[in-house]
Amino acid sequence: MRSPISTLVALGACFLFLTIATGDPQRKTCVVQGGGTNATDDAPHILHAFRKCGQHGTVIFEPKDYYVNSVMKISWLKDVDIDIHGRLVWSTDIMYWLNNSMDVGYQNQSTAFIIGGDNVRINAFDVGTFDGNGDYWYQWIREQPNTSNYPGRPHAVTFSHLTNSVIRGLRFLRSQMWTMSIIYSENVILDSIFVNNTGNFAQSSNTDGADTIRSSHITFNNWTVYNGDDSIALKANSTDIKITNSRFFNGLGIAIGSIGQYKDQFETVERVTVDNINYDNTLHAFYVKTWTADQNGYPPNGGGGGLGYLSDVKVQNLNTTGLRGAAFSISQCTRFSGAPGVGNCTNSEFQIKNVEIDRLFGTSESTQVTGLQCSAVAPCTNITVLEANLRLTNGTQAKQYLCGNVVNTIGFECTGAACVGSSATGGC
Ligand SMILES: *[C@@H]1O[C@H](CO)[C@@H](O)[C@H](O)[C@H]1NC(C)=O
Ligand SMILES: *[C@@H]1O[C@H](CO)[C@@H](O)[C@H](O)[C@H]1NC(C)=O
Ligand SMILES: *[C@@H]1O[C@H](CO)[C@@H](O)[C@H](O)[C@H]1NC(C)=O
Ligand SMILES: *[C@@H]1O[C@H](CO)[C@@H](O)[C@H](O)[C@H]1NC(C)=O
Ligand SMILES: *[C@@H]1O[C@H](CO)[C@@H](O)[C@H](O)[C@H]1NC(C)=O
Ligand SMILES: *[C@@H]1O[C@H](CO)[C@@H](O)[C@H](O)[C@H]1NC(C)=O
Ligand SMILES: *[C@@H]1O[C@H](CO)[C@@H](O)[C@H](O)[C@H]1NC(C)=O
Ligand SMILES: *[C@@H]1O[C@H](CO)[C@@H](O)[C@H](O)[C@H]1NC(C)=O
Ligand SMILES: *[C@@H]1O[C@H](CO)[C@@H](O)[C@H](O)[C@H]1NC(C)=O
Ligand SMILES: *[C@@H]1O[C@H](CO)[C@@H](O)[C@H](O)[C@H]1NC(C)=O
Ligand SMILES: *[C@@H]1O[C@H](CO)[C@@H](O)[C@H](O)[C@H]1NC(C)=O
Repeated sequence: MRSPISTLVALGACFLFLTIATGDPQRKTCVVQGGGTNATDDAPHILHAFRKCGQHGTVIFEPKDYYVNSVMKISWLKDVDIDIHGRLVWSTDIMYWLNNSMDVGYQNQSTAFIIGGDNVRINAFDVGTFDGNGDYWYQWIREQPNTSNYPGRPHAVTFSHLTNSVIRGLRFLRSQMWTMSIIYSENVILDSIFVNNTGNFAQSSNTDGADTIRSSHITFNNWTVYNGDDSIALKANSTDIKITNSRFFNGLGIAIGSIGQYKDQFETVERVTVDNINYDNTLHAFYVKTWTADQNGYPPNGGGGGLGYLSDVKVQNLNTTGLRGAAFSISQCTRFSGAPGVGNCTNSEFQIKNVEIDRLFGTSESTQVTGLQCSAVAPCTNITVLEANLRLTNGTQAKQYLCGNVVNTIGFECTGAACVGSSATGGC
């Protein structure tokens, strides 16, 4: 802890406020300077810079390390350029974060950093990095009774109420949990984002690349994600989402859900386009996970009984290397580890319809092209798989199209029954 006086001195010394002569004397530029050691917290300096220059201005992070030891909520941005040349490193004080991380607004999820506003232009030039120091989290979570969604474990960043904005060239290293949640946001482009959540000492868990909630017109282009969980996941009320020209390594692939977790609540995911994706050692290419109609516990780890539908999804030009499970998977029987028991796996009222997979090529360790475990109450309808050719290691073609409660298949015929059982990751 430093004294209030030394904090004031540091704040004064750590900023340069420049008024750039661009013809608009109102546009301010703030260069954030850090204390240079993780013994002192740069969060107050960062917040101060955004207060000064976060509207009609520019905030610049220099090519050096900044240390973030406390939560930051920056919700007031407007017409701002944020240039990140350096690295922001989050502190390793797990007890602090568990106690102080902020509510995301869905699933009782928490976050270390909230960014919101209109017309925000973040550029990190493929060098600027958010380093969550996740190695500490990955080792710690392994020692807990349940490793899924530990209360208070924070997302690296949450974009909340962010509109008409572009985030480009940003790198994420070892996020504390999910790399980012995007909620109540519209018209956001996330371009050329690199995520590496591979742990150095323990395997990472629950480190999704990105999750969208109550958001629309979100574009993910040119992403590279190394992780062990959902590469990108689209949750409740995500509409008009594009995922293009990206590479996913080791994770679970692109997920819809989990969804249907809130009893009697109506949620949809609609108008999703996935195009030109390379998968390397992921479990699936594309999968859907919904809860059953039976409510067991509360979010984040329990729930069920939700209503709604997934519709109008086109997933095409997929290139796989060593898929580990069914390329296209549906499970309507979501259950997380450490959560209460599951109900009836075929009674979900959440419906999956109008999904098309086309041009799926590459190699797989699984004989299943599809494993579709749908609800008997609201069967999956209008499911299309056009060109698909996956080769097994021995050179033969994967030929299994397993289905349960799928009506009106187009481009393929079901060859057998999908397994029925609870799962957090598709399949059983
Ligand atoms: C500061 O960095 C050192 C060395 O990386 C690390 O051991 C320590 O836990 C860090 N402290 C905080 C508060 O992040
Ligand atoms: C976390 O909160 C609890 C309860 O308020 C408190 O007893 C504990 O000291 C706090 N720990 C830290 C590291 O802030
Ligand atoms: C958070 O958890 C509490 C208690 O487990 C539950 O009652 C509540 O519905 C949950 N809230 C959200 C937003 O998931
Ligand atoms: C894609 O993103 C990477 C950074 O992850 C960058 O180096 C590369 O130039 C980008 N490619 C295009 C075509 O923008
Ligand atoms: C990702 O991080 C792991 C662990 O540090 C490292 O071994 C690997 O080389 C990194 N991958 C890339 C592409 O940077
Ligand atoms: C999703 O949107 C519908 C309206 O389309 C609304 O009734 C529902 O409450 C929303 N659900 C959530 C979880 O925001
Ligand atoms: C498919 O992936 C393999 C291995 O990553 C790569 O060699 C090949 O060029 C990719 N094909 C396309 C069309 O991207
Ligand atoms: C997971 O463990 C934590 C810590 O013991 C506990 O607070 C939480 O309720 C557990 N969640 C579930 C679903 O068991
Ligand atoms: C599960 O629910 C479905 C649909 O209501 C019903 O047909 C089936 O008999 C139930 N299965 C069990 C084991 O209760
Ligand atoms: C079936 O799904 C496809 C692709 O999602 C869509 O283009 C088509 O309109 C759907 N057909 C019906 C009858 O809804
Ligand atoms: C190739 O491997 C699959 C899956 O293990 C097996 O079912 C099939 O018989 C094998 N084909 C040949 C020609 O060995």
